[in-house]
Amino acid sequence: MPEAPAPKPVTVHALLQMKEKRERIVMLTCYDALFARLLDASGVDVLLVGDSVNQVLAGAESTLSATLDQMIYHTKIVRRGAQRAMVVCDMPYLTYQVTKEEAIRNGGRVMAETGCHAIKVEGGRPIADTVRAVVDVGIPVMGHIGLTPQSVHALGGYRVQGRDDKTAQRLKDDARALEDAGAFAVVLELVPTPLAAEITNSLAIPTIGIGAGKDCDGQVLVLHDLLGLNDRFSAKFVKRYAHLADDVKQAVQGFAAEVREGKYPDPEHSFQK
Ligand code: KIV
Repeated sequence: MPEAPAPKPVTVHALLQMKEKRERIVMLTCYDALFARLLDASGVDVLLVGDSVNQVLAGAESTLSATLDQMIYHTKIVRRGAQRAMVVCDMPYLTYQVTKEEAIRNGGRVMAETGCHAIKVEGGRPIADTVRAVVDVGIPVMGHIGLTPQSVHALGGYRVQGRDDKTAQRLKDDARALEDAGAFAVVLELVPTPLAAEITNSLAIPTIGIGAGKDCDGQVLVLHDLLGLNDRFSAKFVKRYAHLADDVKQAVQGFAAEVREGKYPDPEHSFQK
């Protein structure tokens, strides 16, 4: 049998076309090659190597201590598992905010060393010039506004943004500034549904929501949350599609019991010669 042709990779252009055709974009966080292969085979469009890896896998309190080397390592291994999906690397705190030159150098390092397709940065108008400079050297940039976890202390916690007129207007201006600066998509995190819908309708580039309601052009969740692997985290917007933390505990308890009872390994799982 002839081999099936390789699937067409998801590009920046393809995402823009999806918005035009009103096809919803599916994005998930991904931190390793094994899950990248599974998510890619499941038809996920975009794999985001989020700096949330620092909390979810590395056990840190926030994303603030994630490093560029850490993100490069995870992005490189995710890229190995992805055939069709676009791979986006989240730029960690202070790798793009200080100067445009640093942003270009660090973004360029990520692209060159990992083989990923784009980077993501947090912030709106204040970093629009930087986004423009990075886009101008050929690096596709995804924006991220609303609750931006790298500013969690300035925002006073992980809370919904844009609930009053002033902050809502700021978010609309931020989204517009990112589009004007050349961003190809923007994540809206923890934004009321009507505001996210208004921003989505006002932009030519796709919005990808997390806790931003159903009217965004796409949705993203942290993979470990949707799988129910992260049993210490819950939030209103997280829907668990599986409860793998329970499965993991049950499997490990089964193994431990059989080891203690001398039942594992049995002859079937042993070599006689
Ligand atoms: O780091 C991350 O996982 C993210 C998503 C929550 C959008 O930025």
